Amino acid sequence: AKILLLNGPNLNLLGTREPEIYGSTTLADIEQRLAKQANAAGHQLDTLQSNAEHLIIERIHAARDEVDFIIINPAAFTHTSIAIRDALAGTAIPFIEIHLSNVHAREPFRQHSYLADIATGVICGLGVDGYDLALQAVIRRLEQH
Ligand code: DQA
Repeated sequence: AKILLLNGPNLNLLGTREPEIYGSTTLADIEQRLAKQANAAGHQLDTLQSNAEHLIIERIHAARDEVDFIIINPAAFTHTSIAIRDALAGTAIPFIEIHLSNVHAREPFRQHSYLADIATGVICGLGVDGYDLALQAVIRRLEQH
């Protein structure tokens, strides 16, 4: 099956960006590790990081009828984007929302997500482990079908 990993704005800076919050692993490291894990389970992982809301929306549209599951760290768009919510709802592709940091332990504006209530599940606060755990959960769900 096909799995799509989406990362939102500023996550291209992972590894150097506020490492005390986001850790020292780069996004390239995460994407490579997840692609390997997906391949080992017989699946294919596509990835996109974008700082542009419309590119994320257009990738979700293109994923319709092509992608079986999405793993998304929407970054700051989590807290602002009705449009990304509508894209996910409109294509009806199941997705897991992830955050590196524990958004509930941070500023109040990070505690609301426009996506969480329509997600299959949400993982936050576990750093890069959250990406691995999300992929494991996706693989198990794909195997149940
Ligand atoms: C984030 C949390 C968001 O609040 C923030 O805007 C990010 C990263 C995380 O992974 O912890 O850019 O999604």
